[in-house]
Order: sequence, then C-alpha cells, then structure tokens
Amino acid sequence: MQLPLIVEPTSSHGRLTLGIWSPADADEMGAWWRRNRPHLEPTQRDRPESHWTAAGQRDRIARNSADVEAGRLLPLLVREDGALVGEVLLSDVAEDRPASFGYGIDSERLGRRIASDAVHAVVQLAFTELGVPAIETTTERNNLASQRVLVRNGFVPVGAGRKDGEHAQQSWRLVR
Ligand SMILES: CC(C)(COP(=O)(O)OP(=O)(O)OC[C@H]1O[C@@H](n2cnc3c(N)ncnc32)[C@H](O)[C@@H]1OP(=O)(O)O)[C@@H](O)C(=O)NCCC(=O)NCCS
Repeated sequence: MQLPLIVEPTSSHGRLTLGIWSPADADEMGAWWRRNRPHLEPTQRDRPESHWTAAGQRDRIARNSADVEAGRLLPLLVREDGALVGEVLLSDVAEDRPASFGYGIDSERLGRRIASDAVHAVVQLAFTELGVPAIETTTERNNLASQRVLVRNGFVPVGAGRKDGEHAQQSWRLVR
C-alpha cells in the first residue's frame, strides 16, 4: 500500500495528501479539533472533553495503534498543500465484511470538494488494495453536505434509517 495517497490539485483545491497519523501530529490535531469544535461537535457528540486537546489526540493515537498496526484501522490525516484540513478514518477493515468510515473537513475550507476527492481516494484504496468488499457509513438525515459527498462517490441509502434520540439517521453503503 502506497501512502500517503495523493490527490492532484484541481480548480477547487490544492494538492491533497492523505497519510496515517503519528504521535508527531498530536499537537496539530489537538489545535485542529479545538478550532473546529463548533463545526464538528454535532457529529461527534459522544467524544470526551479530552478529545478536543492535544493530550486527548495523543491518547487517541496510542489507543488505536494496535488496530492500525494490524491493518484494521486506517486513520488518515488530509493535508492541503501541507496544511492539516481534515480526517478520513476507515475502520473495521477486513476482506470478509463491510468496513466503516467517517470524515470531517476544516470549517474554513468547505465546499471545495476536498471531502469528495479525499473520500474517492480512500474508497479506491479500500477496494483495490485492501480487499474490502463494501463500505458502510451513517449520516444524520439533515447532514446534506455529507450526503452529497456520499452520493457523488456512488454510495446508496440502505434501510429506512433509524432514530438516535432526536436525530434521524440514514445508513449508506457502497459495494465494490
Ligand atoms: C460533510 C463535510 C465533510 C463535507 O466537506 P466538504 O469538503 O465541504 O465537501 P465537498 O465540498 O466535497 O462537498 C460538499 C457538497 O455538499 C454541498 N452542500 C454543502 N452544504 C449543503 C447544504 N446545506 N445543503 C445541500 N448541499 C450542501 C456542497 O455544495 C457540495 O456539493 P457540490 O460540490 O455539488 O456543490 C463537511 O461539511 C464536514 O466536515 N462536516 C462536519 C462533519 C461531518 O458531517 N462528517 C460526516 C459525518 S457522516
């Protein structure tokens, strides 16, 4: 597997690189999560307070290191021309069942197809190199930006969606 993934610049964004996080990224990740908290918290409601700090990110990287080493988790930092602009995490990676994934992009860089193109690159990697048979994810029904990213990448809604407290959810799947 050749990492980082590279997405060449387009008319809407610069050069994207997607590489696995490392402990050296923790301070930058903490600052990124803290700055983007108002934007990201609605889709990250269960995160502990520490998640929004560098120490919490360092701990998150350490806690997940066994899964990363075993190839079950692919936690990718998205950089645009070197600057941290987002995350795409592919989890439950296996050849015999669907993987899951999630993503978030910096609030100051939205609407420039960074998520769409980053997701495309990760989907290609998952299907061609990791042998993942399908990818599943869930969005809130009112998260139209995320749904647009999924539809553009070929995901289809599955099931009737469920309710998580007040928040109606929709599941999505893309089969290889
Ligand atoms: C969802 C998210 C990752 C999208 O990132 P992004 O880089 O702006 O996405 P893109 O630019 O690739 O595509 C977004 C699309 O949604 C559209 N969009 C944005 N807000 C919208 C809205 N309120 N209604 C309808 N469409 C909307 C954009 O116009 C764009 O479509 P277009 O390219 O056809 O014009 C970003 O908004 C985010 O980080 N949200 C918070 C975290 C989150 O929701 N993660 C996903 C959890 S499932």
